[in-house]
Amino acid sequence: MSTTQQSTGLVAEALRNDPRVAEAKRLLLEAVGEHAAKINDVKTASPELADPYQNLLDEYGQMRGGNLYFPYLASGIGNGPFVELANGSVKLDFITGIGVHGFGHSDPRIVEAGIDAALNDTVMHGNLQQGTISYDFVKSMLAIANQSNAGLDHCFLTTSGAMANENALKIAFQKHAPATRTLTFEKCFAGRTLALAQVTDKAKYRDGIPKAIDVDLIPFFDHEDPQGSTRRCVQAIRHHAHRFPGQYANLWLELVQGEGGYYPGSKDFFRAIITEAKKHDMAIIADEVQSFSRTTRPFAFQHFELDDLVDIVTVGKITQVCCTIYRDSYKPRPGLISQTFTGSSWAMLAGKAIIEGLVDSGHYGPEGRNVKLHDQFVAGIKRIEEKFPGSLKGPYGIGGMVAFTPFKGSFEEAKDLVMKMYHRGLLSFMAGGNPTRVRFLMPLGCTTEAHIDQALQILETCVGEMAASA
Ligand SMILES: Cc1ncc(COP(=O)(O)O)c(C=O)c1O
Repeated sequence: MSTTQQSTGLVAEALRNDPRVAEAKRLLLEAVGEHAAKINDVKTASPELADPYQNLLDEYGQMRGGNLYFPYLASGIGNGPFVELANGSVKLDFITGIGVHGFGHSDPRIVEAGIDAALNDTVMHGNLQQGTISYDFVKSMLAIANQSNAGLDHCFLTTSGAMANENALKIAFQKHAPATRTLTFEKCFAGRTLALAQVTDKAKYRDGIPKAIDVDLIPFFDHEDPQGSTRRCVQAIRHHAHRFPGQYANLWLELVQGEGGYYPGSKDFFRAIITEAKKHDMAIIADEVQSFSRTTRPFAFQHFELDDLVDIVTVGKITQVCCTIYRDSYKPRPGLISQTFTGSSWAMLAGKAIIEGLVDSGHYGPEGRNVKLHDQFVAGIKRIEEKFPGSLKGPYGIGGMVAFTPFKGSFEEAKDLVMKMYHRGLLSFMAGGNPTRVRFLMPLGCTTEAHIDQALQILETCVGEMAASA
């Protein structure tokens, strides 16, 4: 039972139960719902807003030190996967800030969480001042993480995926001191702090910054050669461990490569390489900042049945608040991790609504909604590939992470397609390099079959244009 639902006699409870609050909330939700309902299809920009919008974009680009990737400035309202921009256009949002808005835009559950948060005494929770809201979020996250008895005892909150990962690294290093090295996959992305830029396998993210930690790379799973790639990866771990005996503190696993291009590993692959890593006393860290909530289970480590093997797991994005979840045996000594901000009231209330909402509404399981949405989307992508052979190659990702390689997989082709879709009203983004892929992270909690059909229509039109001009 949530602490906020117990009868306590507290003033806070009296405020929450005040009939005026209930009425104000009802009116606000009604107003948002009524206005949001007007946004129910893709729409082009209002001509009269074109110039002022461009001025906003130019000025914003100037202030932030670089133009925005998309000419996207939200007006502040949407409806499910549809979002209104400040130029009056409406987009079908199948990227959601790279996987953040799990229920899309202006969802009543999230608006309600915001109203509740606004009644809370502070905006932020942090090291000295946590609230029952933080307690409820952590309790919920740990319950989900331990659905299959993983034995993950603790959950530390923070405000970004990178910070959750930074805390994971510190916890692992402290436990395995004096080991100082990290092993991770080629093409892995872990964030952009000084340390995580070393874990991330992309040279330009380390351009001009000093080396913070020692990282060595191992090959990822190859779906075209499962056994061979597993053997090669195990051998690579063995090779590194013999080269630097006792110096690896952790094996860093991105179970579904996200920025790398939406490539999942497999249960057998992960079990084999973890078994090898454990022989060399490495902590097993699963970075689920992007993959959380998108497979057949809330956590990808559950999907791949690694509950007994992971020591530290990180989540972020769709959870709104980011977390480092870890076994008791990894509990850091006092002082290692602490923060002024662990999250805002709204982020925690909304995050809890999203993670519990997906669990409660049939998204998981081998026949759950995540799989159904994926299958429908991928079947449509394959139909487009049949119509325009060589246009959209697999693999197509997993669950709520859908991707393909457009044409020959050049950066230019992928960007051209993403931008064409943007201008026709569908939001996507690129991933990976060599080949460059196009990805979708639809808002799982509100995407319907009709939304996917509409996305496929736009995709097909844009692919057709590209095929015609090739
Ligand atoms: C797998 C993974 N880890 C870490 C991060 C970093 O998260 P954030 O951008 O919230 O710092 C990301 C962001 O894309 C990610 O995909």
